[in-house]
Amino acid sequence: MGQGINFDRFKNLTYESFRQMAKDPMLSEYEKVGFPDSYREGKGDAIFADILAKLPRLNERGLTVVDIGPGCSDPAKRMIEHCGAHEHRLIMIDAPEMLDLLPDAPHLTKMGGCYPKETPQLFADCAGKVDVVLAYGVVSIIFAEGLLYPFFDQTLTLLADGGQWLIGDFPNIDKRKRFFASPTGIAFHKAFMETEEAPEVHFNAVEAGQMDDGVIIGLIIRARRFGFDAYLLPQRADLPMANRREDMLILKP
Ligand SMILES: C[S@@+](CC[C@H](N)C(=O)[O-])C[C@H]1O[C@@H](n2cnc3c(N)ncnc32)[C@H](O)[C@@H]1O
Repeated sequence: MGQGINFDRFKNLTYESFRQMAKDPMLSEYEKVGFPDSYREGKGDAIFADILAKLPRLNERGLTVVDIGPGCSDPAKRMIEHCGAHEHRLIMIDAPEMLDLLPDAPHLTKMGGCYPKETPQLFADCAGKVDVVLAYGVVSIIFAEGLLYPFFDQTLTLLADGGQWLIGDFPNIDKRKRFFASPTGIAFHKAFMETEEAPEVHFNAVEAGQMDDGVIIGLIIRARRFGFDAYLLPQRADLPMANRREDMLILKP
């Protein structure tokens, strides 16, 4: 199944590379958001159901919702539909080229720019007023660009009392290693890559640019010390990268 996919094409992605991919007519909507088709095609319902289960306030009515890095594929479209049906005001922040690929709607405000450094208006208008924040699949890009702490700290300032923030899809290099060093992970790799060779897993190695247990658990402690509740959550087992990714839920009491 994994044979024939050019995985290198989806590595080292930056905000700027997503801007270019958004404009490339040769790419599918899944490739534009950095995934091979086989990872995301037909998975939109499961991903959005997992998001809704973790952000139950999305089922209330008339809230202010912010989606950071929504991309242009199924989860973003589901979010626009869901917020419209629940009379939420939705603010989506991404590259202008990516936002142009999404439908317009009266309840949707599109804010083009690199978050958080190019979105000062959001903080001026919405500090302490946002009920639900979603940042799905974007934290690894923000980390690689050296923006993790501005992203994390400034987003916390957006939350209203009772606010919920889901940071979805942390690629955790330590979780990945634990999986691919296990009998289950080795069998998964052999079947997926159609090979008899076990995956290469290196411990005690510098993993430049990768998030690990230290970074992720550090964020949990940071949020808690700032007065928020924070939890790490597994992804639904039927999500494409549940075996090596995890989510973080932050709640403002
Ligand atoms: C991997 S895609 C995920 C898209 C979507 N959340 C999903 O899971 O289908 C990452 C998205 O975040 C956007 N992005 C990356 N860095 C960003 C930043 N600093 N500010 C706003 N958007 C960003 C990219 O343009 C891209 O649309």
